[in-house]
Amino acid sequence: MKIVVIGGTGLIGSKLVTKLRNHGQEAVPASPNSGINSLTGEGLAGAMKGASVVVDVSNAPSWEDAAVMNFFETATRNLLKYGAAAGVKHFVALSVVGTDRLSESGYFRAKIAQEKLIKSSTIPYSIVQATQFFEFLKQLADISFDGKKVRLPDALFQPMAGDDVASAVGRIAVGPPLNSTVEIGGPELFRIDELVRRRLTPLNDSREVIADPNARYSGAKLDERMLVPGKDAQLGETRFETWLTQPAAKAAAGAHK
Ligand SMILES: NC(=O)c1ccc[n+]([C@@H]2O[C@H](COP(=O)([O-])OP(=O)(O)OC[C@H]3O[C@@H](n4cnc5c(N)ncnc54)[C@H](OP(=O)(O)O)[C@@H]3O)[C@@H](O)[C@H]2O)c1
Repeated sequence: MKIVVIGGTGLIGSKLVTKLRNHGQEAVPASPNSGINSLTGEGLAGAMKGASVVVDVSNAPSWEDAAVMNFFETATRNLLKYGAAAGVKHFVALSVVGTDRLSESGYFRAKIAQEKLIKSSTIPYSIVQATQFFEFLKQLADISFDGKKVRLPDALFQPMAGDDVASAVGRIAVGPPLNSTVEIGGPELFRIDELVRRRLTPLNDSREVIADPNARYSGAKLDERMLVPGKDAQLGETRFETWLTQPAAKAAAGAHK
């Protein structure tokens, strides 16, 4: 089965392409580096020719409010248009647990717009909402640093390994379209500040990490459980302490700056 992976060179996309190929699928990574651009439409018709499934695991290069909205709206419209023309049977997209509760954030307004376009398209779909990736924790510290302290919302989350995200997305991509949203998450619940502290320690990053009731998540004020998936979520296996010992943790230390 030909499966086009939009953002197939990214953190999740590259893992997904490898996993699909290991399972005998014809996975085609698509990104601007390989001349395929969802924002401009360049290369999409050729990439999607003969494809059964399109998986969108791309991300916007800029998270500024207007730029990220333009990215997800324009790119999703293009992907759905070229996908429908090519007779694609299943459109899968990666989103974030709690997206619908986070409309105070420009980034999440863009993800809401992306999900809405997919739900109203003629192509059968599956939306996979994942919790935060372990690989994202260092970047979360960086974007939450005010020059003195890392200030994080005083709330819970249930993050997961990127490898488990890719496995779940791959499983769903080769299955029948759900025409609904499925949540995936990690096996453990943490306070956000506690886990970011535990991530920075082995990196010898001595910045002070605090829970600040006024800190926002990507511009949104959080309630205690806004980032936590529901009871039907599919949970990945990898625990945080296990992930820390894996090569992925080392690779992620330098990534996403
Ligand atoms: N970070 C988290 O904790 C988290 C949690 C849940 C869900 N998510 C979602 O997961 C998704 C993927 O995140 P990620 O961290 O794996 O992304 P990433 O590593 O930043 O990779 C982004 C990918 O998008 C591609 N891309 C950028 N502009 C493009 C364009 N115009 N056309 C086609 N491809 C384009 C990039 O291609 P190049 O390599 O060519 O630039 C790259 O392959 C996002 O949608 C995000 O919302 C993230």
